[in-house]
Amino acid sequence: MHPYSLKSSKGAPFPPRPILVVLIAIFGFYVCYISFNQITLENRYEENSGEVQAEIHCRKPRLPHEELRYVHFPKPESYSRGECSCNPVRSFVLVSMQRSGSGWFETLLNSHPNISSNGEIFNRVDRRENISSILQTLDKLYNLDWFTSAAKNECTAAFGLKWMLNQAEILAKFKPVLDVSNLIPNIRNAEKYIRDCLDHFNTIRHMILYYEDIVRNRNALFQVQEFLGVPVRKLVSRQVKIHTSPLPGLVRNWDDVSNKLNGTQYAHFLDGADYVR
Ligand SMILES: *[C@@H]1O[C@H](CO)[C@@H](O)[C@H](O)[C@H]1NC(C)=O
Ligand SMILES: *[C@@H]1O[C@H](CO)[C@@H](O)[C@H](O)[C@H]1NC(C)=O
Ligand SMILES: *[C@@H]1O[C@H](CO)[C@@H](O)[C@H](O)[C@H]1NC(C)=O
Repeated sequence: MHPYSLKSSKGAPFPPRPILVVLIAIFGFYVCYISFNQITLENRYEENSGEVQAEIHCRKPRLPHEELRYVHFPKPESYSRGECSCNPVRSFVLVSMQRSGSGWFETLLNSHPNISSNGEIFNRVDRRENISSILQTLDKLYNLDWFTSAAKNECTAAFGLKWMLNQAEILAKFKPVLDVSNLIPNIRNAEKYIRDCLDHFNTIRHMILYYEDIVRNRNALFQVQEFLGVPVRKLVSRQVKIHTSPLPGLVRNWDDVSNKLNGTQYAHFLDGADYVR
């Protein structure tokens, strides 16, 4: 089994607003990518001038100038990148809520020969205990010295990890009863949570992707690949959908929920077009 799968955070404490998580499970909220290669880039520039020369030499032929600050040229210690040593590499982080389809999305990304997304590498405490263990982990990752089932050949051009916003994992209860009286305020809270998160990433290059985008819009995955600067191709995944019945069959008190949301700005949550069929 994949060592970094979602399941490994099972047993974490129940969050105060379970309903929030259930809502997320049902509607699938968002995934945003942040390219935070600033951290690693800063370090690289401080290395000796010989290496900087080599990097400048590498950079020239391939990239428009404004792209330079988003890429780096890793020097893995455990192998040589060979003919790809001058292929620029982008770093990314997938920031996501639980149960929002990010695991599926990650398998789609990993079907690309030049993308390697390595799951929740920070779900092990020793890797996030203090800033030096975090930096050490990131250095290893962005030097392409990190090996998981997602590892590719030396021509990886986009390399990243996944970070869950709320680490407490609740596997979707098959038929939850939603707290109808607090439904609207809870949705508002979830929206605020998302807005606040995005505020933090204002100044960082990112893109926002909704689960529904991937399901309904064929171009969404092309835009992702353009964002990551890899050759665009068709992405595939072998993941199967867990919840296959229509929404009304998934929530025990669906009629109440439906009555509550009907006529509000959240009525579109009732469509569940993804689940029909
Ligand atoms: C993607 O991978 C292929 C095969 O390894 C390689 O030939 C190509 O140069 C890579 N593309 C980029 C943009 O790194
Ligand atoms: C940081 O955490 C690592 C891994 O647990 C540990 O070995 C190291 O001593 C810690 N460093 C500091 C400065 O606390
Ligand atoms: C929403 O309310 C309208 C009017 O009360 C009704 O006609 C419609 O069937 C309701 N829709 C759902 C999904 O319950």
